[in-house]
Amino acid sequence: MYEIPTNLEEEILRLKKEKNAVILAHFYQDSEIQDIADFVGDSLDLSRNAASTNADEIIFCGVKFMAEVAKILSPQKKVWIPDLKAGCSLEDSCKPDVFGEFCRKNPDHIVVSYINCSAEIKALSNIIVTSTNAKKIIDQLPANQKIIFAPDQHLGRYINKITGRNMLLWNGSCMVHEQYSEKELVKLIANHPNAKVIAHPECPETLLSYAHHIGSTSSLLKYVADHQGGEFIVLTEVGILHQMRQKNPTAKLYDCPFVDAAGCTLCNSCPYMKLNTLEKLYLVMKYGSESIYGGELNLSEELRIKAEKPLRKMLEMSEDKKDDDQKFIKKGEEQKETEPKDIVEVEEGKEVGGVIGKLKNLVFPNNNQQRNLSRETGGLEAEEDKGISAKDAWDARSEEVDKMGSNTAKVFNSTGMKSLVWKQKKARLDNKELAKEAIEAAAAIKGSKKGAAKEAVPQGLGSFGMGQQGGFVSKFQNVKKDYGFNNDKDGGMGR
Ligand code: 13P
Ligand code: SF4
Repeated sequence: MYEIPTNLEEEILRLKKEKNAVILAHFYQDSEIQDIADFVGDSLDLSRNAASTNADEIIFCGVKFMAEVAKILSPQKKVWIPDLKAGCSLEDSCKPDVFGEFCRKNPDHIVVSYINCSAEIKALSNIIVTSTNAKKIIDQLPANQKIIFAPDQHLGRYINKITGRNMLLWNGSCMVHEQYSEKELVKLIANHPNAKVIAHPECPETLLSYAHHIGSTSSLLKYVADHQGGEFIVLTEVGILHQMRQKNPTAKLYDCPFVDAAGCTLCNSCPYMKLNTLEKLYLVMKYGSESIYGGELNLSEELRIKAEKPLRKMLEMSEDKKDDDQKFIKKGEEQKETEPKDIVEVEEGKEVGGVIGKLKNLVFPNNNQQRNLSRETGGLEAEEDKGISAKDAWDARSEEVDKMGSNTAKVFNSTGMKSLVWKQKKARLDNKELAKEAIEAAAAIKGSKKGAAKEAVPQGLGSFGMGQQGGFVSKFQNVKKDYGFNNDKDGGMGR
């Protein structure tokens, strides 16, 4: 018979002292577990902490693969988990025998695995990454190095996008991040147009396309802490809202629901993370291996040694963590503050995509319009990737936008934004000089009276006072002339 005391917290703290134990908790744990833990963090910080703690025992409140990491890095310590059934759908989506075969079929690839996988998958890997350090680590590998990335296809796709790699992706996914309802997200955005959408890179690409900021749990938390007050639509597990509220008490936080095929709204929390409770934490601390749900994490030494190598490689390659989170900031976000960098990037032949974001910020006063525009004009790059000519893709896309007949499409077409966006996309592909000019035009727009521009646009730019906005209009007209597109066909930009 197991007894659960009424002074649960006190007893947990007493047992912790008695055992010289440390309680580590992931951000997705229940708030009461987070509050009692010695350290709350993301996967990377938790593994660093487990590797360096001088406690005798580690009580790991997270999922099993995280506790395994603690054991792999600190084999001399006892590692306990409140519920041994706390698995992970990503781990389940990558079975060692099938994955081993896949690796054998691609012998010229190295294997980079996301930390959300079993010790067996780690043992088959060359390097482990977390969502905090994935970009940093992949960027250190030679450009021509072929890479298998497992198990999360969505994180892999996102890393491919931001690093320009073409990693071979295993098709695993997280059941939590995959389930957010796009329909509900759009409703939330419509109801809270000033809210920033922040998303974990385990979300599918379609959901990420709405995000202002993409990053690991610690990166999302930092973003909320760095924007005191503010409104945020959060696309990651709800447990993290507890820390967000502490770091930014006046923030308005909206979590996005799941809706199943029958239209029922489901709970958007991780069923594995939530298996741990304060009661189970107490039980494992009090009864150890005799506890009902929890127990000690054990691995064969042979497996531990094999899994340790790629984990140590990860720790070595991600030593300076300071700027990792910054690298997950979406391009558009960075470029708002670092305008000259765009031009430098163009000159270096990299990309000018952020300019479009700038233009949208200037011309479209409301976030919803901006997002609709992104959706309506998006997909071009993806289509290019499929080998369809950019021009054909753009024409098809424009037709689609026209057919939609939405207000955004109307504003988009009537202001000539469509033409400029196309010119910029085209310029990025084949003429860096044109791109540079477009950027200068965008900078001129930025220099003009923003407020008036914002007000004028929804009614059509014809209502611009020439005296007020002369610089903007004439600069824009020049760019249009230089690019040789005509007002009637492409839509007028003022006069
Ligand atoms: P982080 O490494 O960002 O904390 O993510 C862990 C996780 O399981 C996300 O689902
Ligand atoms: Fe695994 Fe997803 Fe739960 Fe994270 S949220 S532990 S990836 S199932």
